[in-house]
Parts: sequence; C-alpha cells; structure tokens
Amino acid sequence: MAGSDPKLTAKLVLPDSKEVVLPVIVGTEDEHAIDIRNLRQDSGYITLDNGYMNTGSTTSAITYLDGEQGILHYRGYPIEELAEKSSFVETSYLLIKGELPTISEREAFGDMLTRHSLIHEDMHQFFAGYPPTSHPMAVLSAMVTSLSAYYPDCLDRQAPVDLHITRLLSKVRTIAAFSYKKSIGQPLIYPKNSLNYCGNFLHMMFAVPSEDYEVSPVLEKALNQLLILHADHEQNCSTSTVRIVGSSGANVYAAIAAGILALWGPLHGGANQAVIEMLEEIRASGGDFKKFLDDVKNKRDNRRLMGFGHRVYKNYDPRAKILKKMCDEVLAHLGIKDPLLDLAKGMEEIALRDDYFVSKKLYPNVDFYSGIIYRAMGIPTNMFTVMFALGRLPGWIAHWKEMVDDKETKIGRPRQIYTGQRVRKYMPIEQR
Ligand code: CMC
Repeated sequence: MAGSDPKLTAKLVLPDSKEVVLPVIVGTEDEHAIDIRNLRQDSGYITLDNGYMNTGSTTSAITYLDGEQGILHYRGYPIEELAEKSSFVETSYLLIKGELPTISEREAFGDMLTRHSLIHEDMHQFFAGYPPTSHPMAVLSAMVTSLSAYYPDCLDRQAPVDLHITRLLSKVRTIAAFSYKKSIGQPLIYPKNSLNYCGNFLHMMFAVPSEDYEVSPVLEKALNQLLILHADHEQNCSTSTVRIVGSSGANVYAAIAAGILALWGPLHGGANQAVIEMLEEIRASGGDFKKFLDDVKNKRDNRRLMGFGHRVYKNYDPRAKILKKMCDEVLAHLGIKDPLLDLAKGMEEIALRDDYFVSKKLYPNVDFYSGIIYRAMGIPTNMFTVMFALGRLPGWIAHWKEMVDDKETKIGRPRQIYTGQRVRKYMPIEQR
C-alpha cells in the first residue's frame, strides 16, 4: 500500500532561509511524491504548476502508468494481456470492483447490463430536438445529464450507487447508437438481449428493420479490444474533471457528463477525429505529408501532428502499438485498402526518424490509428470521440467511486497566484 514513509523526508529551503521538512509518499511501484499539503500552513507558500505537469492530485489503486517505459496496467494487469484475453465487460468489472470476476460474478454483471440497456421512451423526443448539425458529443453529454432526471435518487448521497453505475454503462451505449441512427435519419434499433455488450452496440448501430443483421465476430473482437484500450488512463484531463466535479458532491451522472465534455477537446479524446481530418486534408491536397510535417515542425498556423505526443508517454504508447497491428488485421479481414492507413504509416516512419519529434519524445498515441479502424467498421468520423467516451466510461466510474469512497477526499479547489490590480478606489462613471 502507498503511504508516508517516516524514514524519507524532503527539505525545502525558502528565500528567507527558513527550512520546511516535508513528508514523502511512496507508491506500490516505488513512485515518490513530496507531500505539500501542509506547506502553506507551515510556511505561507503555495506551489505553482500550470497544467498540473508535475502535481499528483490523489493516490489511486486503479491504473499504473510508466510513461518513460511505455507501461500501462489496470489493477496490476498489463494492458497487452487484457486486450488479448479479456472482454470489455470483464475489464469494466475489474476497473470498477478491483478484481477480475468469477464466472457467476461475470454472468450477474452481464445480466444487469443487459437488463438496463433501454432508455426511457420519453427521452427519444430529446434526440428529435437536436438539429442535424449537432455533434454527437453534445447529444451524449446532454443525455447523460438528463439520466439524472429519470433516476432522481442519484441526488441522495447516501443511496446505493451500483444500480446507477450499471445504468450508465449500459445506457450510454444505447444513447451513442441512437444518436447515430438519429443523425442519419434511420429508425432507432432497440437493444437485443441475446447479444453481448459489444455485439449489441454493433447491432444498434448497423441493423436496419428491413434486413437481418449478423454481428461479425471479428468486428466484435476488435470493438472489445478498442474499448479495453481506452478504458482507463489514470488522472487525465477528463478523469480529473470527473473527480473534481464529483468532489463537490454532484451526482454521478453530472460528474460523468462533465468528463464527456472534457474529453471532447482535440488535445484529448477529440484527437481521434482530428487525426482523420488531418489525414483527409493532406490526401485532398495531393498527399504531400512531408510538407505537412515541415509546417508542423515550423509551427506554421500552430499545426500539430495530431495523434502524436502525450503528456505522460515519452516512449511509444503501448496502446498505439496494439492498435497499429489491429488496424492491419481488421482492414485485411474486411478487404479494405484505406489510403489513409498508408499515409499514417508513412508519416509515422518519417516522424520517428526526425530530430524534431525524436528530441521532444513525440510518439504515436492511442488516437493515431484508432480512427482508421473505426472508419473501416463503418463508424462516421464525428462519432469517434463518442467511441472513446464509451470505452473510458468504466475508468471514469472507477475513479468517481474511488474518490467517493475515500474518507480523505476533499472538494477539489486549487489555489492561484494573483497577478491583477492591487486594491484601488472605485471612480463614478462621470469621473473616469
Ligand atoms: N505535434 C507537433 N509538436 C508537438 C506535438 C504534436 N503532436 N505535441 C507536442 N508538441 C511539441 C510542442 O509544440 C512543444 O514544443 P516546444 O517545446 O518547442 O514549445 C513540445 O512538443 C511540448 O508540447 P506540450 O504541448 O507542452 O506538451 P503537453 O504535454 O502539454 O501536451 C499533448 C500533450 C497530447 C496535448 C500534445 O502532445 C498534443 O497536442 N498532441 C496532439 C493532440 C493529440 O494527439 N492528443 C491526444 C493525446 S492521447 C489521448 C488522450 O488520452 O488524451
């Protein structure tokens, strides 16, 4: 267990030569942190760390990530092993409950997800209210907030949470598929109880009432893997948002909706959509990716190579490694030859040898290849970030639950260094 080691302390010498001794916290993977919680009280100083580049906001037992080595574990299990051997439902159980399920636990959890897959019929009208130009992330976040109106006992902080967690996991999948059907003007396809989690999602997305639809086992496996790879990533922007919103006592639907909105940005989950748009743009202008990379390196128009770089990975993202291989397999199975894949591989090859990217330790991240697989599956580009949200959901829930169950949780409230005007006298308008 992580904890303060009384033998280890850090000493901080302040400008007035005053010394402050700070406790050191050691994690189970031997990560070290200086505990500054009492620094202000003991010295009058705060710490400043724009973008939380080097600030731990919590201890957590969910995910371990070593960005230098390219290591990712959920509850101690390597991501490579989970992606190969587990299912998304089993991995969700692992993240939320802390252990892999037994057969009966797995069945009970799966049954609950099946039983709670419908959304209230009245909510169908909400979809109708959105204009065709709506981004599916706007619809998804609003629908998740709306769930709190249908299950108002979520507002009672003492009420049991397991049912709300199940509802979220199951209904977000239905909402995602319904919002797609609505956007293309097709009738909504209801969930089918005989199908498992990922198969049911594909059914709701791609079945039409007039035809039989059979779920492809290859696509179902690929979807399981994609969602597992996205399922958690410790204290990223959206997960930290879920924790900070939840720390105010806001209900679980509100906290998750906030996480969805944080994920939407192109520097975070929105990057998977941005990667495909970037590749399409390069292809449309003749395919000269070297010129594009040149623009990126010279920071022309603030261009970035989307799907590259990461705050914590300074090595190849282990998820991107799995996805690159999956890309080849899924496209080969579907008999698709996507020119964007060749373009992406060509850009990666050049970037990994280029001093700009090498010196800044910029490698492909999870979003570089995932969009090409989603595209091959028939999922439209503006739904990619919704897919990321569906995958990240168990991670957000696990962190929300860990935060709520932790007796030491305090409302998230960073401090600041004020740089504005000092106190001044108010002047009536006619004297200004
Ligand atoms: N292309 C070109 N240059 C880059 C890139 C990139 N993708 N990423 C970082 N840099 C440069 C950046 O310009 C800066 O250069 P300099 O030192 O000369 O000013 C340096 O590398 C450090 O960048 P930073 O923005 O300070 O690094 P960060 O840790 O704050 O940002 C990041 C991390 C993911 C926001 C960034 O790498 C990025 O914008 N990548 C593209 C968007 C993307 O793919 N996001 C998905 C991340 S993975 C999914 C998720 O979990 O969110």
